[in-house]
Amino acid sequence: MAALADALRGDVRRMGPGERLPSSRALVERHRVSPVTVSRALGLLAAEGLIVTRPGSGAFAAERPSAAPEPADFGWQAVTLGDRAVDPSGVSWLLTPAPDGVVALSGGYLHPSLQPVRALATAAARAARRPDAWDMPALGGLPELRAWFARTVGGAVSPADVVITSGGQQSLTTVLRALLAPGAPLLVESPTYLGALAVARASGLHPVPVPVDADGVRPDLLAEAFALSGARALYTQPTFHNPTGAVLSDERRGQVLDVARAAGAFVIEDDFARHLGVAAPPPPPLVARDGEGRVVHIASLTKATAPSLRVAAVIARGPAAARIRATQLVEEFFPARPLQETLLELVSSPGWARHLRAVRTALRERRDATLAAFARDLPGLRASRPGGGLHLWIRLPDGVDDTAVAEAALRGGVLVSAGRPFFPAEAPAPHLRISYGTAASTAELAEGARRLAAVLS
Ligand SMILES: Cc1ncc(COP(=O)(O)O)c(C=O)c1O
Repeated sequence: MAALADALRGDVRRMGPGERLPSSRALVERHRVSPVTVSRALGLLAAEGLIVTRPGSGAFAAERPSAAPEPADFGWQAVTLGDRAVDPSGVSWLLTPAPDGVVALSGGYLHPSLQPVRALATAAARAARRPDAWDMPALGGLPELRAWFARTVGGAVSPADVVITSGGQQSLTTVLRALLAPGAPLLVESPTYLGALAVARASGLHPVPVPVDADGVRPDLLAEAFALSGARALYTQPTFHNPTGAVLSDERRGQVLDVARAAGAFVIEDDFARHLGVAAPPPPPLVARDGEGRVVHIASLTKATAPSLRVAAVIARGPAAARIRATQLVEEFFPARPLQETLLELVSSPGWARHLRAVRTALRERRDATLAAFARDLPGLRASRPGGGLHLWIRLPDGVDDTAVAEAALRGGVLVSAGRPFFPAEAPAPHLRISYGTAASTAELAEGARRLAAVLS
């Protein structure tokens, strides 16, 4: 679409005002694109004011503005705003789609072919048909959706402990802002999800690293980190940790809760990939074994569905829950009701369990195909073999600059994530994060590994 819009912009610039563009059908034939692409490109040019469309007669070059406006001077803003800039670089790398022709081995969401697009369309249509779809939802979220999350999480969690939010990322913002004051330390795994680091920093918190190994966060160093930093919270992903794929071992689950209890601290559990296990089912979440409101749990479903289904749940108890609810209410009132209704329709539909099974099977194939391709084309590199999630964590040889590798890989036709931004402080070694859920097929994953091998050689 972007390429066609560029071409049409060039054509329109060469035309006089009022001159007629070729018909949509002619554009379809000339540019060998679909009618939908033509209509979206024309829509974009119309929104930019370059063309005017007249139903029934076609699209015409618009009048040109007489002179380019003077570039504005925004200098005063630099003085007024000061230095509180938010750094979006890591997050925007993750959210930028791979350019045409580039194999996507980076990104946090399923390839569209794995998303339940049909089921979502049906769920959204049913949701939108409800007479009260656009009315306010109950505060805290639709009762049935809260009950579904409570039952799915298990343990002693009740629907009253659940608040529906606008996705995992928004939940992180709300929870961190509700529980911690600006300037406070926050223990985080090292490495950790870079979006959590970005939120923490944007909220004025200071991330303090605690190392992760193959069994998850290390409880011995966690105790030390609480003692040294005085932190009152740990942000952790005990299940299919992003980026390493580690699952916190059963023994450590108890230890982490004990250490947090001794420190009088909260444990913020980001359970973003629970439904994406490709081997044995994952252990129950930490919140299911917590009887004292120590764990604040974030359950997000975008990873198992689609990025724009921006509805998630936060589970909390006691005064912390009250603060989280109050913060959410003040920040956003409530998540859009049609999306809450859509998620409810989706998870209550008979196809939901089937969809999850299909995704898990596809991800298992993709994980294995990627590991096989790496073993063949990059035999010197050590790769994690995650039991779920979306990512492999690849150790690069000492001395290699992972950021430079990721940039060179992009030029070589494959998008990967450098390990560096996932570390809250110095990275102990260079890594790449390779996502196996974002490519179109196992053949494309193998092609991505070949291209990366060419870059690394
Ligand atoms: C560990 C983790 N938590 C939370 C999120 C946020 O996802 P969403 O806002 O789509 O739920 C992501 C997305 O990449 C993630 O990897």
